[in-house]
Amino acid sequence: MLIAGNWKMYKGPDETREFCARLRARLHGLDGVDVIVCPPFPSLHDAVGMLATTELAVFAQNAHWAKEGPYTGEVSPWMLKEMGVGGALIAHSERRSLFGETDESAALRIEGALDAGLHVIACVGETEHERDAGETETVVHRQVEAISTVVEEENLERLAIAYEPVWAIGTGRTASPEQAEDVHELIKSRLRVPVLYGGSVKPENAEELLSQPNVDGALIGGASLDVESFAAICEAASRS
Ligand code: PGA
Repeated sequence: MLIAGNWKMYKGPDETREFCARLRARLHGLDGVDVIVCPPFPSLHDAVGMLATTELAVFAQNAHWAKEGPYTGEVSPWMLKEMGVGGALIAHSERRSLFGETDESAALRIEGALDAGLHVIACVGETEHERDAGETETVVHRQVEAISTVVEEENLERLAIAYEPVWAIGTGRTASPEQAEDVHELIKSRLRVPVLYGGSVKPENAEELLSQPNVDGALIGGASLDVESFAAICEAASRS
C-alpha cells in the first residue's frame, strides 16, 4: 500500500518542520504501507531534512523535463534529485485545469523525472461533464496511453498512477468503491503499475476504498494537512 499526501499550496518551511516531527513520531513502527508527503517547493528542503532518517519519502508536486535551461520559474527534476527528493507528482488535475498541462506536456515531465532517477505519481481522471457524457473510459484511456508512450520497461518500477476523478477532488464526494475499482482495472490492463485512488479520501472512507482488489493506495489532499487524519488513513492502509 502507498499513501501520498498532496499538500498543494499549504505549509511553509516552519509548519513543515513541525508537521514532519509529529508525523514521524506518530507513524513510527507502522508496517505494510509506504508513506509519502508532497510539500510545496519552498518546504521540500525542510521536509527532506526532517524525514531523512525515516522510511517516509518526500515528493515534489511537479517537475520540468529538462536538466537545466532557460525555463524561468520551472524546477529541474535533476535538481530535485540532488536535494534528496524521492519523486514528483505529475499532471495533477489542478495543473491540467488551471495551468495548461496537457497529455503531451505531462508525458515530457514524466519522462524527464524518470530519467533523472525520480519516482513519479502520474495523475489521471475525468471531469464531471465527461463522466456524465459516458466518456470516463475514453478519457482515462487517452491519458494513460500518453503516459505509457514515454515509460520504458526498466523505469516502470518507479511509476505509479493516481486515478483522481476531478469531480471528487476537494468536494467531499468520493467515487464509490465500485467506480474506483472499474477505472483502476482499466488502467492496470494497460500499465502494470500501482494505481492509487484520490478524491475526498478521509479516515472514514479510506478502509472501504483501499480494500478494493485493484486499489493499491491513495493520494490524499485536504485530509493530509492534519497529522491525525493523515496518520489515521496510513493506519487504515496498513490494515488493508
Ligand atoms: P482531496 O484532494 O483529498 O482534498 O479531494 C485530492 C488531490 O487533489 O490530490
